[in-house]
Amino acid sequence: MLELEDFRLRPIQLGDERAFLDYLSQPEVIEHTSIPAPTLESLAASVQRDIAGYANSTSFCFAVAAADDRAIGICGFNSWSPDHRHAELAYELAPHYWRQGVMRRAVEAVLSWGFSELGLNRVHAFVMTSNQASIRLLERCGFSREGTLRRYRIARGEPKDFHLYALLAEDFARPRA
Ligand SMILES: CC(C)(COP(=O)(O)OP(=O)(O)OC[C@H]1O[C@@H](n2cnc3c(N)ncnc32)[C@H](O)[C@@H]1OP(=O)(O)O)[C@@H](O)C(=O)NCCC(=O)NCCS
Repeated sequence: MLELEDFRLRPIQLGDERAFLDYLSQPEVIEHTSIPAPTLESLAASVQRDIAGYANSTSFCFAVAAADDRAIGICGFNSWSPDHRHAELAYELAPHYWRQGVMRRAVEAVLSWGFSELGLNRVHAFVMTSNQASIRLLERCGFSREGTLRRYRIARGEPKDFHLYALLAEDFARPRA
């Protein structure tokens, strides 16, 4: 559990799929991502995978929870390689909370936890080239663009280009503005 001032990061739990469906049903949330059109069933299966991933230490996705414990987003590592000490960062947030610095604080907390507790050497993220909010967030958190992967993921039937961003442990430790 990672406590932040007005919200916290907690393990994903059964039942969170309803809150996820509420915000993922808003088209602007998935527009610049490869997230499939959501259903309650697909999100319940995803919640089960996240719970199993956490239990097996293969992925670490946290729910961003408001004061009443309702999930308003996700932030975490959806894959982790202990051998190579790298992980893929992923996040999403309900539009009501956008542009208030919520995800920046969540990402900083997850990175701090990942670099110290998981001993990560590198964290990377794949972001659709049209996703200005996510690009800005990653750059504000110190990530560097390493290249562009053409037609890397299929977004609801359409192949899309994705930038590859990464942050190394030593760069996270360095003070930033
Ligand atoms: C990407 C997302 C998580 C950002 O969350 P957020 O809490 O609104 O981000 P923050 O408020 O912490 O902002 C971080 C930075 O990004 C900037 N930013 C946020 N939204 C932006 C937008 N739509 N356009 C341009 N910049 C934006 C902020 O201004 C801030 O930069 P600053 O500190 O220089 O002002 C949110 O927009 C989202 O959930 N989008 C849909 C899902 C998604 O795209 N997930 C990522 C897939 S790779």
